[in-house]
Amino acid sequence: MNRIHVNSTVNGDATQFLCDPGASLLDVLRDTLHLTGSKEGCGSGDCGACTVELDGEMVCSCLVLAAEAEGRTVATIEGVAEGSVLHPVQQKFLEHAALQCGFCTPGFIVAAKSLLDRNPNPTETEVRYWLAGNLCRCTGYDKIVRAVMDAAAELRQERTPA
Ligand code: FES
Ligand code: FES
Repeated sequence: MNRIHVNSTVNGDATQFLCDPGASLLDVLRDTLHLTGSKEGCGSGDCGACTVELDGEMVCSCLVLAAEAEGRTVATIEGVAEGSVLHPVQQKFLEHAALQCGFCTPGFIVAAKSLLDRNPNPTETEVRYWLAGNLCRCTGYDKIVRAVMDAAAELRQERTPA
Protein backbone atom coordinates (compact mmCIF):
# COMPACT_ATOMS: atom_id res chain seq x y z
CA MET A 1 0.00 0.00 0.00
CA ASN A 2 1.29 3.47 -0.84
CA ARG A 3 2.11 5.45 2.23
CA ILE A 4 1.21 9.11 2.57
CA HIS A 5 3.77 11.81 3.32
CA VAL A 6 2.41 14.29 5.84
CA ASN A 7 3.82 17.66 6.96
CA SER A 8 2.42 19.14 10.14
CA THR A 9 3.42 21.03 13.26
CA VAL A 10 3.44 18.94 16.42
CA ASN A 11 3.87 20.74 19.74
CA GLY A 12 5.44 23.67 17.91
CA ASP A 13 7.92 21.62 15.86
CA ALA A 14 7.71 21.17 12.09
CA THR A 15 7.20 17.42 11.72
CA GLN A 16 7.06 15.02 8.77
CA PHE A 17 5.93 11.41 8.79
CA LEU A 18 4.80 8.62 6.51
CA CYS A 19 1.55 6.85 7.28
CA ASP A 20 -0.86 4.33 5.83
CA PRO A 21 -3.98 5.99 4.41
CA GLY A 22 -6.14 4.44 7.13
CA ALA A 23 -3.82 5.13 10.06
CA SER A 24 -5.27 7.18 12.90
CA LEU A 25 -3.55 10.25 14.23
CA LEU A 26 -3.30 8.46 17.58
CA ASP A 27 -1.43 5.55 16.02
CA VAL A 28 1.05 7.87 14.33
CA LEU A 29 1.57 9.95 17.46
CA ARG A 30 2.27 6.88 19.56
CA ASP A 31 3.96 4.46 17.17
CA THR A 32 5.73 6.71 14.64
CA LEU A 33 6.46 9.90 16.59
CA HIS A 34 6.85 8.07 19.93
CA LEU A 35 4.60 10.56 21.72
CA THR A 36 3.00 7.95 23.95
CA GLY A 37 1.28 10.31 26.40
CA SER A 38 -1.98 10.13 24.44
CA LYS A 39 -3.63 6.83 25.33
CA GLU A 40 -5.88 4.43 23.47
CA GLY A 41 -8.74 3.48 25.75
CA CYS A 42 -11.58 2.61 23.40
CA GLY A 43 -10.45 3.50 19.88
CA SER A 44 -14.00 4.60 19.10
CA GLY A 45 -14.36 8.17 20.41
CA ASP A 46 -15.98 7.26 23.71
CA CYS A 47 -13.35 7.68 26.43
CA GLY A 48 -11.29 10.82 25.68
CA ALA A 49 -7.97 9.21 26.67
CA CYS A 50 -6.56 10.11 23.24
CA THR A 51 -7.57 13.80 23.36
CA VAL A 52 -5.32 16.25 21.50
CA GLU A 53 -5.86 19.63 19.86
CA LEU A 54 -5.93 19.94 16.09
CA ASP A 55 -5.68 23.57 14.97
CA GLY A 56 -6.73 24.50 18.49
CA GLU A 57 -9.86 22.34 18.54
CA MET A 58 -10.16 19.37 20.87
CA VAL A 59 -10.41 16.06 19.01
CA CYS A 60 -10.26 12.38 19.77
CA SER A 61 -7.09 11.45 17.92
CA CYS A 62 -8.36 7.88 17.52
CA LEU A 63 -11.09 9.25 15.22
CA VAL A 64 -8.84 11.49 13.09
CA LEU A 65 -6.88 10.12 10.17
CA ALA A 66 -3.20 10.90 10.44
CA ALA A 67 -3.33 12.21 6.87
CA GLU A 68 -5.77 14.89 8.05
CA ALA A 69 -2.91 16.48 9.99
CA GLU A 70 -1.38 17.69 6.71
CA GLY A 71 -0.61 21.41 7.02
CA ARG A 72 -2.20 21.58 10.46
CA THR A 73 -1.11 22.07 14.06
CA VAL A 74 -1.28 19.25 16.59
CA ALA A 75 -0.88 19.82 20.34
CA THR A 76 -0.48 16.80 22.62
CA ILE A 77 0.03 16.29 26.33
CA GLU A 78 3.80 16.32 25.73
CA GLY A 79 3.56 20.02 24.82
CA VAL A 80 1.59 21.17 27.87
CA ALA A 81 4.49 21.68 30.32
CA GLU A 82 7.15 24.28 29.52
CA GLY A 83 10.36 22.32 29.92
CA SER A 84 10.41 21.15 33.52
CA VAL A 85 7.74 23.65 34.59
CA LEU A 86 4.33 22.04 34.83
CA HIS A 87 1.25 23.83 33.53
CA PRO A 88 -1.04 24.88 36.43
CA VAL A 89 -3.55 22.21 35.37
CA GLN A 90 -0.86 19.54 35.74
CA GLN A 91 0.32 20.98 39.04
CA LYS A 92 -3.21 21.07 40.45
CA PHE A 93 -3.89 17.49 39.39
CA LEU A 94 -0.90 16.53 41.53
CA GLU A 95 -1.90 18.71 44.49
CA HIS A 96 -5.49 17.43 44.47
CA ALA A 97 -4.45 13.82 43.87
CA ALA A 98 -6.78 13.91 40.88
CA LEU A 99 -5.46 10.67 39.42
CA GLN A 100 -5.05 7.10 40.42
CA CYS A 101 -3.94 4.77 37.60
CA GLY A 102 -3.30 7.85 35.42
CA PHE A 103 -4.49 6.31 32.16
CA CYS A 104 -7.15 8.98 31.61
CA THR A 105 -5.01 11.84 32.91
CA PRO A 106 -3.34 13.07 29.68
CA GLY A 107 -6.73 13.36 28.00
CA PHE A 108 -8.23 15.20 30.96
CA ILE A 109 -5.32 17.63 31.13
CA VAL A 110 -5.40 18.44 27.41
CA ALA A 111 -9.18 18.91 27.63
CA ALA A 112 -9.02 21.03 30.80
CA LYS A 113 -6.30 23.27 29.34
CA SER A 114 -8.40 23.67 26.22
CA LEU A 115 -11.34 24.81 28.36
CA LEU A 116 -9.26 27.29 30.38
CA ASP A 117 -7.69 28.71 27.21
CA ARG A 118 -11.23 29.61 26.11
CA ASN A 119 -12.94 30.29 29.41
CA PRO A 120 -10.69 31.42 32.27
CA ASN A 121 -13.55 31.51 34.79
CA PRO A 122 -15.73 28.43 34.26
CA THR A 123 -18.43 27.37 36.67
CA GLU A 124 -18.28 23.88 38.12
CA THR A 125 -21.15 22.92 35.83
CA GLU A 126 -19.23 24.19 32.80
CA VAL A 127 -16.17 22.18 33.86
CA ARG A 128 -18.27 19.04 34.27
CA TYR A 129 -19.96 19.49 30.89
CA TRP A 130 -16.67 20.26 29.12
CA LEU A 131 -15.05 17.14 30.56
CA ALA A 132 -18.07 14.93 29.94
CA GLY A 133 -16.29 13.24 27.02
CA ASN A 134 -13.41 12.14 29.23
CA LEU A 135 -14.01 9.00 31.24
CA CYS A 136 -12.21 7.98 34.43
CA ARG A 137 -12.84 4.63 36.03
CA CYS A 138 -10.84 5.42 39.19
CA THR A 139 -11.30 8.85 40.72
CA GLY A 140 -15.03 9.55 40.81
CA TYR A 141 -14.37 12.91 39.06
CA ASP A 142 -14.71 15.22 42.07
CA LYS A 143 -10.97 15.62 42.57
CA ILE A 144 -10.51 16.25 38.86
CA VAL A 145 -13.15 18.98 38.87
CA ARG A 146 -11.64 20.59 41.98
CA ALA A 147 -8.19 20.52 40.37
CA VAL A 148 -9.48 22.24 37.23
CA MET A 149 -11.35 24.90 39.24
CA ASP A 150 -8.21 25.54 41.30
CA ALA A 151 -6.03 25.73 38.17
CA ALA A 152 -8.48 28.25 36.70
CA ALA A 153 -8.18 30.39 39.84
CA GLU A 154 -4.38 30.25 39.70
CA LEU A 155 -4.27 31.14 36.02
CA ARG A 156 -6.55 34.13 36.62
CA GLN A 157 -4.23 35.29 39.38
CA GLU A 158 -1.16 34.87 37.14
CA ARG A 159 -2.84 36.90 34.41
CA THR A 160 -3.87 39.74 36.74
CA PRO A 161 -1.43 42.64 36.33
CA ALA A 162 0.44 43.35 39.58
S1 FES B 1 -9.22 6.10 22.56
FE1 FES B 1 -10.03 7.79 21.51
S2 FES B 1 -11.85 8.29 22.56
FE2 FES B 1 -11.15 6.46 23.53
S1 FES C 1 -7.15 7.65 37.07
FE1 FES C 1 -7.55 5.62 36.33
S2 FES C 1 -8.93 5.93 34.68
FE2 FES C 1 -8.74 7.87 35.58
